[in-house]
Amino acid sequence: MRVLITGAGGQLGRALVAAAPAAATVRACTHSELDIADEAAVAAAFAAFAPQLVINAAAFTRVDDAERAAAEAARANAAGPAVLAAACRLSTAWLTHVSSDFVFDGRQGHPYEPGARPAPLSVYGRTKLEGEIAALRELPQRCTVVRASWLYSAGGGFAGRMLALMRSRPELRVVSDQVGAPTHAAGLAAVLWALSERRAAGLWHWCDSGVASWYDFAVAIGEEALKLRLLTTVPPIAPIGSADYPTPAARPAYSVLDKRATERLLAVSAPHWRSALRATLAVPGAGYPQP
Ligand SMILES: NC(=O)c1ccc[n+]([C@@H]2O[C@H](COP(=O)([O-])OP(=O)(O)OC[C@H]3O[C@@H](n4cnc5c(N)ncnc54)[C@H](OP(=O)(O)O)[C@@H]3O)[C@@H](O)[C@H]2O)c1
Repeated sequence: MRVLITGAGGQLGRALVAAAPAAATVRACTHSELDIADEAAVAAAFAAFAPQLVINAAAFTRVDDAERAAAEAARANAAGPAVLAAACRLSTAWLTHVSSDFVFDGRQGHPYEPGARPAPLSVYGRTKLEGEIAALRELPQRCTVVRASWLYSAGGGFAGRMLALMRSRPELRVVSDQVGAPTHAAGLAAVLWALSERRAAGLWHWCDSGVASWYDFAVAIGEEALKLRLLTTVPPIAPIGSADYPTPAARPAYSVLDKRATERLLAVSAPHWRSALRATLAVPGAGYPQP
């Protein structure tokens, strides 16, 4: 099967390439190799490679920057998926697209099912919602959309940023009133491959099990890194409220996703985020600089 992976230079894109099944012939395109919002470039990529499956990991993911770069965010997150879906419609390719927990406003007190009403709080969330709607409208029978939350990877995302800060700062202050489910990118990549192989049309949710605040996650990163000797000491970490750490973009206070339908379909159980974190940090050569 010929598979085009877009956004291949990002943390999820790299995990998708690493998790590719042996039967897949992968063309992995980074941003500089293929801009998903460029219709002519996408058409040329389809003409040259004739993908049977497209997995889109490309996105504008800098949530705060998106507030003042709304057009750029919309180009990558909304127009890009629409362009890919249109190219898939003109061929026979299946599209697997990734979206985000930030399409929700966080006011629901229990995990969000795929059918829950989206109400994004930020430009990032709104453009991600527009992208998933465009993809599903263009390709209702041939598109998988997977919403995921709080992605991190070996060397990337929040885990990578926290480890760098723990090495350089005497103390850290981390928000404790936003709750979600940290999700390792390698696990999401495996789920994306599995849903794509099954041609599971429609909206699906995926995240690791359990819930955490960013503060809980930071504390766990420090503890696991200490055990693995990635750090020699961990600076004190203080919990703070979102009001004490104002950001340009509002974030949902609660964005745990209900992933049970995906678990049932694939007959898998999501690992607890803490064990996935331990395993991710323990990967040799994971990209975390040694102390
Ligand atoms: N990170 C999270 O916490 C999180 C949570 C939930 C869902 N997601 C979703 O998961 C997916 C993967 O995110 P990630 O964490 O892997 O993000 P990432 O590390 O920022 O990777 C995204 C990649 O997309 C590229 N890109 C941006 N605009 C593009 C365009 N127009 N055409 C082609 N490539 C483009 C970026 O390149 P440049 O860096 O050169 O711009 C980057 O390499 C995204 O759909 C994201 O919305 C992420």
